[in-house]
Amino acid sequence: ADKSGRARLAVRLAAPRGFCAGVERAIRAVEDALAAYGPPVYVRHEIVHNTHVVNRLKAMGAVFIEDLDAAPADRPVVLSAHGSPRAVHDAAAARNMHVIDATCPLVQKVHAETRRNAARGRHVLLVGHAGHPEVVGTMGQAPEGAVTLVETCADAEAVSPPAGPLAYVTQTTLSVDDAAEIVRILKRRFPAIEGPRRSDICYATSNRQAAAKRIAPGADLVVVIGSPASSNSRRLVDTALAAGAARAILLDAPETFDLDSLEDAQTIGLTAGASAPEVLVETFLARLAARFRLTIETVEAAAEDVVFKPAMMAAG
Ligand code: F3S
Repeated sequence: ADKSGRARLAVRLAAPRGFCAGVERAIRAVEDALAAYGPPVYVRHEIVHNTHVVNRLKAMGAVFIEDLDAAPADRPVVLSAHGSPRAVHDAAAARNMHVIDATCPLVQKVHAETRRNAARGRHVLLVGHAGHPEVVGTMGQAPEGAVTLVETCADAEAVSPPAGPLAYVTQTTLSVDDAAEIVRILKRRFPAIEGPRRSDICYATSNRQAAAKRIAPGADLVVVIGSPASSNSRRLVDTALAAGAARAILLDAPETFDLDSLEDAQTIGLTAGASAPEVLVETFLARLAARFRLTIETVEAAAEDVVFKPAMMAAG
């Protein structure tokens, strides 16, 4: 403790952390649509999986829906960063809706691979988490029955695809290490299986996990700023635990964090998922600084300079 009686706390701040290029682009698509057409602008599914982002856009006039039918045909509709099944695009086209597609370009790449594989008669094994909208969107790129989901190593050992050519693709936000293990099993069982030339796991997911591995060893706690629905944020919690953090938590709302729980902590790690805004990291650090005598060390695992072109605002 210092003269003021504040205890010391060392914070290892992960870099990169927070917003990726796909999230920046998706949020901007909603903001641009609101600016161009005025509210309400409909958004199918949470534009990105973050409570703070969604609430801010709601306050600006975005209306979040799960079913396209909930939107009137004469208002613009933005499709979320996670990507949508073909059926959603078809339904929007049938109603002549003005669609702004905020699907991340790196998810679009996986969609294209899936369609190409299916068109070449390959059965596709999709490595991903059941029920996640990205998985629903990728499965929905190919005809019914052309894609089989593989979630775990046990699934990879047990899956029995139809005879004939095979390929695999993956969700973009998986644990790099878990996915590698699953793909190893698939390649052992099906030596002729085709796969993406470069990993389908995106740069942002890999870099945030690499940084989480660096801040975790020996930390009393790793805090991952992110919302429960965010796949890449949850994988950061798993990664931190696997890399030797005593504890790791997902924190959606930094203002609710119980500072008393850090009474005995000496070192904590801090990072944020790809959909979590930096302002939440700042809020958390400000709360820590009011209670502890902080030393902050930034641990940089990779430099990022990826920027995507804005989503098309094509006239409807
Ligand atoms: Fe895209 Fe990866 Fe972000 S797939 S939305 S760059 S987490």
